[in-house]
Amino acid sequence: MAGRSGAPDVRGKGGANGRGTRARAAPARATDARARPIGVFDSGIGGLTVLKALVAILPGEDFIYLGDTARLPYGTKSNEIIVRYSRENTEFLLAKGVKLLVVACNTSSAVALDEIERHTMVPVAGVIEPGAGAAVKASRSGKIGVIGTEATIASGAYTRAIQRLRPRAEIYTRACPLLVPLVEEGFVDNEIAERAVAYYLESLKASGIDTLLLGCTHYPLLTGLFERVLGPRVKIVDSATATAAAVSARLAALKLGRRGGGRGAQSFFVTETPERFVRVGRRFIGPRVESAVRIER
Ligand code: DGL
Repeated sequence: MAGRSGAPDVRGKGGANGRGTRARAAPARATDARARPIGVFDSGIGGLTVLKALVAILPGEDFIYLGDTARLPYGTKSNEIIVRYSRENTEFLLAKGVKLLVVACNTSSAVALDEIERHTMVPVAGVIEPGAGAAVKASRSGKIGVIGTEATIASGAYTRAIQRLRPRAEIYTRACPLLVPLVEEGFVDNEIAERAVAYYLESLKASGIDTLLLGCTHYPLLTGLFERVLGPRVKIVDSATATAAAVSARLAALKLGRRGGGRGAQSFFVTETPERFVRVGRRFIGPRVESAVRIER
């Protein structure tokens, strides 16, 4: 699908992430905005779990996905670098004329969302607020575990978002840096992955959590293992599904949903050679990743 260029022409009216929107563009015919694609970016491949959830709930929309594969992982980098990379990704998608931007990367959402919104003229949706909302809804006891990359956990973004919704929640967090490379290697249900998951979840399990929030793009592929290690009493909540629902609600509220029937298209851009993205990406989203275009950084 060719990207549609030109200045976005949408106006925000409040946000699914609870922060309001920064849409400030000049008024234009709503029909123009409706037909534009939705932009999605991630540090690499993992955001395809968010895209998959978005396509499932918004099958008629066009999506442009950017994976910053040359520079992943973001989860081990400093806030300054994460913000800079996130802003560059945002600029690329805005130049494609997207009508709404989804920051699929948990690390970027945790560290750079405010900065992205400040400089972006279309509505921006992150994954933190929807994920936190879903976890609070799922938890009866208020004992909630959150796992993510080192930067996501260090930012405290999920903890703050959960506490805003449920001030007395007991939140137990754990960074799980090994899980991203394991998933990318396809280690999602073997003994090595199970041992890593058991190791990381030991303290959360001992804390008696009743809900585990998957605060990283890659973790939904390990859901079976999380269930096995934590047992049937712990609910597993992933921010990808919750984010897709929030984006869908927001598009409807802003009257930005694409009109007419038919299935939308997805196009993929990466910052490294596309082969690995296409090969590993199929594991995340299925055969829809047929090709990707490399962009220069
Ligand atoms: N996409 C990242 C996230 O959701 C995981 C991979 C990385 O560290 O870049 O936090």
